[in-house]
Amino acid sequence: MTEDAPGGPASPYDLFGGAAFFESLVAAFYSRVGRDPILRPMYPEEDLAGAQRRLTLFLGQYWGGPGTYSEERGHPRLRMRHADFAIDSVARDRWLTLMHDAVVEQALPEDSERVLWQYLVGAAFAMQNIADDAPPAHAIDVTEA
Ligand code: HEM
Repeated sequence: MTEDAPGGPASPYDLFGGAAFFESLVAAFYSRVGRDPILRPMYPEEDLAGAQRRLTLFLGQYWGGPGTYSEERGHPRLRMRHADFAIDSVARDRWLTLMHDAVVEQALPEDSERVLWQYLVGAAFAMQNIADDAPPAHAIDVTEA
């Protein structure tokens, strides 16, 4: 039998390893983004520290940690917040590849890793906003003579 912490069962946030886990995961991810020829140009800011902090806080909050992300940024509305970035299947898959390497590096217990990874795959597919069969932009620009 496992002992629950006072106040009820541990949240996934605690099971993964709390703030230190999410900081380590997202730092591992963004160090890869910083060197990636597809993803790096999509990030508008010169310094990725702000983006790194936002993803760290969002993921921690999603898995049951402190609500700092929403205190600072409001409701996540992640699809809306990604609308300005052209995310096709190539960008989506690169994001997932870099995130997979970052997740594996954390050496979580297998069950935790599986749960986290399934969520990340679903979220990345949901963030794609350019369909694979969409016509190229120039083909639908009717103002072009
Ligand atoms: C599918 C590929 C994805 C690409 C190419 C992408 C790209 C970006 C870019 C360029 C930004 C702006 C940087 C910033 O200001 O924070 C951003 C922000 C963000 N992304 Fe993604 N993203 C992807 C998937 C995801 C997924 C799957 C999640 C969540 C699991 C996520 C969570 C976030 C969060 C929380 C922010 C900050 C939103 C804010 O508060 O402004 N992204 N992303």
